[in-house]
Amino acid sequence: MERIKALKKIENDIVSLKSSPLYNYRVNEKNYPVIGEGDCLAKIMVIGEAPGKKEAKTGRPFCGASGKILDELFLSINLKREDIYITNIVKDRPPENRDPSPEEIAAYAPFLDKQIQIIKPEIIVTLGRYSMMYIMAKFGLESQILQISKMHGVELQIETSYGKITFVPFYHPAVAIYNRKTKGALIDDFKVLKKFI
Ligand code: URA
Repeated sequence: MERIKALKKIENDIVSLKSSPLYNYRVNEKNYPVIGEGDCLAKIMVIGEAPGKKEAKTGRPFCGASGKILDELFLSINLKREDIYITNIVKDRPPENRDPSPEEIAAYAPFLDKQIQIIKPEIIVTLGRYSMMYIMAKFGLESQILQISKMHGVELQIETSYGKITFVPFYHPAVAIYNRKTKGALIDDFKVLKKFI
């Protein structure tokens, strides 16, 4: 299938991306890049921030503590992980789980752009402010960017090369590990997705 082939090419390109500011760290740590996984025909695409320790050891997105919260959220609306496509804006783990730098985002964003172009989701969900800001800037909504506390759960329309689609930013599930209020907001916000399932 063309989509699988195109996604495989992205994987190969990232594996050999020596120009990335995170390439040497990945090799030294014996980490894997985390490309993304799920249904390449998915209607919903979920975009996180960057792999954590467990993700970088396995090459799988959201398989650690944040992933556990995410699974609870998916279950709360009966959404199966295998029915969506899930990825991150930055494909390699930044040292000490620090926030991704503008250079790191710039290095990996072209791959996210290609993933969107291949999968052509009808709904893009971002987790956290980095992927929210990137998607809003990419699709011409830069002037509408507010703090994530004001934007989470708000549905917006974005114009892509393949038509109008829905975009909805959520808090990052990592914040919900320590903050019950954020977890409550995430549970409420996830209900927005019900009508797309
Ligand atoms: N946090 C993310 O943003 N992505 C992952 O894959 C894991 C944790």
